[in-house]
Order: sequence, then C-alpha cells, then structure tokens
Amino acid sequence: MTQFVPLPAAPVNASPVPHLTSIHSRRGRGPYGNSRYRGNCGGYLIRDLIRYFNARSVLDLMSGSGTCEDVCRELQIPCQTMDLKNGQDAADPRSYQGIQPVDFIWAHPPYWRMIRYNNHENCLSSLPTLDAFLDRMQTILRLSKTVLNPHGKIAVLLGGFSDRGRYQPLPQLLVERAIREGLWPATTEIVRFQHGNTSSRRHYESSFIPGLHDTCMIYQIHKTHHIEGQS
Ligand SMILES: C[S@@+](CC[C@H](N)C(=O)[O-])C[C@H]1O[C@@H](n2cnc3c(N)ncnc32)[C@H](O)[C@@H]1O
Repeated sequence: MTQFVPLPAAPVNASPVPHLTSIHSRRGRGPYGNSRYRGNCGGYLIRDLIRYFNARSVLDLMSGSGTCEDVCRELQIPCQTMDLKNGQDAADPRSYQGIQPVDFIWAHPPYWRMIRYNNHENCLSSLPTLDAFLDRMQTILRLSKTVLNPHGKIAVLLGGFSDRGRYQPLPQLLVERAIREGLWPATTEIVRFQHGNTSSRRHYESSFIPGLHDTCMIYQIHKTHHIEGQS
C-alpha cells in the first residue's frame, strides 16, 4: 500500500525564504517561461534562490523560453541572457563581452543528449561524448566566473539520466569539474521534484527505478583554493 509521507520538518532559522530547503517541491510552474519549451523548468526555484541570496543582478546562460528573465522581471531586477539558439554560445569568451558583473548566474543546460535541442556543433546536447559535455560545461563555469561579483553565486540545474544502458550522474560529475575551476558548493544540493514530467505518464515494459528529480548545485568562488598535496 502506498503511504504518503509529508516532507521532513525544516528547522526554524533566519532565512529570508524559510520554505527553501534541500528539497524543492512545488506544484505548478508559475507564470514564467513557456511550459512547451522542451526541458523547461518552472520559475519557483529560481525565484527562491534569487531572493535567498538577495541577488541584485542576474545572468541566465541558457535562457530557452525565458523563465529566469520572467522571474527577474517580477522581482524588478536586471537580467542579462544568452542562448545558443540566439547565436550566443556560453562556452565562447566572445559571448561575455559587454556582460556586466552579476550577483547570480543561472545555468539550466541540456542534460547532455537526453533531449536534442538542435544540430549545432556547439550545442551541449549534440556533444558526442560524456567527457566532451563535461569539458564544455567546465569551460562555461570558467568563463562565467569572469562576470561574477566576488560574493556571487552560480546555480546549475542538471539531472542524471539513463543513456544507452548506462546511468549518467551529470550533477555529481560536474561537481568535480567545478572544484577544478576554483568553485565550491555554497550550500546543500537542492533536489527539485519534477512534478508533471512527461515520462511520468508513460508505461514501460522494462523494470527500472524512475528518476523523479533533478539537482541544483550552487557554487561560489573558493577563496582559499588549493589542491591537496600541492603547496
Ligand atoms: C534546458 S533548456 C533551458 C530552458 C530554459 N531554462 C527555459 O526557461 O526555457 C537548455 C537550453 O540550452 C541551450 N544551449 C545549448 N547549448 C548551449 C550553449 N553552448 N550555449 C548557450 N546555450 C546553449 C539550448 O538552446 C536550450 O535553450
């Protein structure tokens, strides 16, 4: 028999967004972006993070249907955007020319080739290998650091997926690349429940453990960055 268990109680603390915990579960997506844009996520997590970190300026690296921009419009803070579909490759240093330094960077990349966005060779969803995807994401983290204010945060929303019989834990693999770039998790990972996933309504003959969430990692510049064993 299925038992529905409420989420664990969160300790009371001085957070300006008390409902923001390591589990993000909201029904609905809010009046942000376009739900028909493939792989789109709702705006509530973005809004909670911007408010929690009191960010006064935002850059969305892969804007898609503009969810983050819509959130920023509501919060009345400036949002700069880029997306390959508009000719801006987040892995190309030229895309950062003219970008003003920001407090908060939102990155919602393709989950590698889970959904194919286009055939552009620089599209993160067209890269031929896992390493190529991680290398490109590492470059994006390196470049985004150049437009991040000293106390700024970079939030990356990614999910794992089963790819040709092999599970690809993308959020976990990217942590190691971020650390190599002198970034360090600013807080707990946030597990975002994916209510209303298209695949949740399908029937499969095979047996597997369904993934019902993606993971948001929030990074900040690691001030005393050094690699263990190196002086
Ligand atoms: C998961 S979608 C983002 C959806 C978005 N959060 C929204 O509000 O609709 C991923 C986006 O990454 C873009 N993209 C893929 N490769 C890119 C790259 N190298 N640089 C910038 N954007 C890229 C795709 O065009 C797509 O719009």
